[in-house]
Amino acid sequence: MYTDKVMDHFSNPRNVGQIEHPNVVVKVGDPGCGDAVLIFLKIDNDVITDVKYKVYGCGAAIATTSMASTMIMGKSLDEALEVTDDTVAEALGGLPENKMHCSNLAATAIRAAVTRYLHPPENTES
Ligand code: FES
Repeated sequence: MYTDKVMDHFSNPRNVGQIEHPNVVVKVGDPGCGDAVLIFLKIDNDVITDVKYKVYGCGAAIATTSMASTMIMGKSLDEALEVTDDTVAEALGGLPENKMHCSNLAATAIRAAVTRYLHPPENTES
């Protein structure tokens, strides 16, 4: 049911962990299934120099977040914003139809993290 690439990234996920002093950290959840990704980015001159994450979720969520992390490592913010659920699923050789939504978690987390970095929320403290 899963491709060899999915099984590889599920069994041996890349870039798991956290970054001590990230430029941005974002948590994104899928309200439908309750799974979530916490993603940390280190960014230098608009290039992602490090990415780490913690994922609480199904096997496909783990595999897609792992693959997505490899797709943005060393890439520009613009390139990272081009990562979508479809490109992540494609890079894994496809996902079963009922697991396609799982790839949305990583793609959404990357978009949210880059957007938060580019447009940080205003400091509401007075
Ligand atoms: Fe929730 Fe896969 S079932 S991300």
